[in-house]
Amino acid sequence: MCGIVGYIGKKNCKQIIFNGLKRLEYRGYDSAGIAVLDGGNIEFIKASGKLKELEKLMDQLPNSAVSGIGHTRWATHGSPSTINAHPHVFGKLALIHNGIIENYGDLKTGLELAGISFHSETDTEVALMMLNKELEEVEKQVGHNPSNIKQAIINTTSKLKGTYSFGVIYSEEPDALYLVKHGTPLAIGKGEEEMFFASDVSAFVEYTKKAVFLHDGEFARISSSSIEVYNFSCQPVEHVFVDINMRSEELEKGGYAHYMLKEICEQPMVLSSIIDRLVDKTNSCIKEEALGLDKIDVRGIRSVHVIGCGTAFYSGYTIKYALEELTGISVNLELASEFRYRGVHLDPSSLVIAISQSGETADTLAALKYAKEHGAKTYCVCNVYYSSIPREADFSLYMDAGPEIGVASTKAFTGMVLCNYLLAIGIASRLKDKKNIYSKVGFSSMLKQMYYLPSLIEGIVSGREEIKEISNKYYNSSNFLYIGRGSHYSIALEGALKLKEISYIHAEGYAAGELKHGPIALIDSSIPVVALIPNDRYFPKTESNMEEVKARDGRVIGVGDREKISKVCESVLRCPQIEDPYLQSILSVIVLQLFAYYIANRRGTDVDQPRNLAKSVTVE
Ligand code: M6R
Repeated sequence: MCGIVGYIGKKNCKQIIFNGLKRLEYRGYDSAGIAVLDGGNIEFIKASGKLKELEKLMDQLPNSAVSGIGHTRWATHGSPSTINAHPHVFGKLALIHNGIIENYGDLKTGLELAGISFHSETDTEVALMMLNKELEEVEKQVGHNPSNIKQAIINTTSKLKGTYSFGVIYSEEPDALYLVKHGTPLAIGKGEEEMFFASDVSAFVEYTKKAVFLHDGEFARISSSSIEVYNFSCQPVEHVFVDINMRSEELEKGGYAHYMLKEICEQPMVLSSIIDRLVDKTNSCIKEEALGLDKIDVRGIRSVHVIGCGTAFYSGYTIKYALEELTGISVNLELASEFRYRGVHLDPSSLVIAISQSGETADTLAALKYAKEHGAKTYCVCNVYYSSIPREADFSLYMDAGPEIGVASTKAFTGMVLCNYLLAIGIASRLKDKKNIYSKVGFSSMLKQMYYLPSLIEGIVSGREEIKEISNKYYNSSNFLYIGRGSHYSIALEGALKLKEISYIHAEGYAAGELKHGPIALIDSSIPVVALIPNDRYFPKTESNMEEVKARDGRVIGVGDREKISKVCESVLRCPQIEDPYLQSILSVIVLQLFAYYIANRRGTDVDQPRNLAKSVTVE
């Protein structure tokens, strides 16, 4: 989604802003622009397409400018054209925006009736023109004064509905930039005699690691040496500096062809650090405090709801299946976009678990707020510190996977699955005195198996050439089906999502048992069927489904133990086997991540920034 960035200091700002935009590329965008203030004049450039188009125009911006704003736009209202790109500039103002102004249509009509004309199709230009009008009104009332801009911002925010982070240049105040936050993220970075702001800290972490995160309903005036924060009633608000624990090297590809491949290969390290943080290896038990179990009244829980979007939602199957199996408590797993509007009944005995890599997904955030408003206990599994979802939740379990830059989630997915599984085990072990269902289940043996996970994953990533070779046989197919059972149903969904996201091939995941209820009609020699068939209790059933596909000339790609499955498969994507089904699902999905990666690579798509997709979906 849109990325905003800005700088004010003593240096030539245009390159710093451009570098910031490069860092935000991963969020997904289709046009970009920069505005700077130079000698009281606002100069700007905009281009549709990737940043290399904007780069061609950089010479048009003065080298003497020391403050400015930049934007990457993910089109919502209006096509990804140059005219719709931000910054939008009018009179003494330039403005960039991340979010959506929901009532922009009514506001635009009102402004047009007042004689104001528009050049773009965007909701953002409406916000700019509203701000300009409010500024004129304030001037009429109290006379000219540069600080009138604050009142104009407040008056404007009182009229806007929706979500927004704004960065504003006001040419009357060359020593300041204005920032506004309501519903989408905004961080300020403090350097030596310079200040930065951005949608996320990756845009400025190479310059400073001191940041302030604005809250919804706040705006700020920043200069090269000061930060003033106000609420929307213009009362000063104290701000807190936090130290960012991110190294700029983490944002590099580190010798890999793509971020996605790098992130796939980082999984042994990511999972091993999760295990170290959350499992007491000496006693083979969960570290309850690290999981925040002391913060949840586990015994008082009557209903559990797990919410997320996309890959995060698929990871939620691990909590659902594991918690139901281990505790007998029913778990409602639901897409956040549905949950938030469905009027689900919640009360203090409900536990709502939100899962999100970015911590900024608008639907998940809104669903979590709904849960809080209705008195539920809230918990989140998240990757990004200081993001909005952890700020809302009663307790946040961080997966600490490091920055995930590839739009297609990989290490965050396996991080989520592992955290979710540990959470389920943790809740179950807390409940164990109350019910007896899990006396059969040896938690310590489950945990001990986890210790093998990183080295098994090492084996998959180091043998990836074989997956590449197999992908070469299939990269030309237009449709794929993925099937799996039990813990591998969600892996079928996730495997299909990975393929479609980065290769643009149509792929669907199904529970293997569902095949004969419809999708089997599609089977012929043109559709590869990726069958997830680990050595688990469902093996014979999934094997029969594979036979059914084969009997109809279907092409089966099996993911499992070669010795056991090769006779039913056209190809085998070899996967090491582990007894625990949830840990097995982590191994299987990594094979599918690599399979999708190599197919997309062969098709020549933009693996890290697939078309139309955004890393952090901050609008509904
Ligand atoms: O940041 P989140 O985990 O909340 O994001 C949710 C989805 O937008 C995300 O998982 C999306 O489906 C990814 N592109 C999957 O690869």
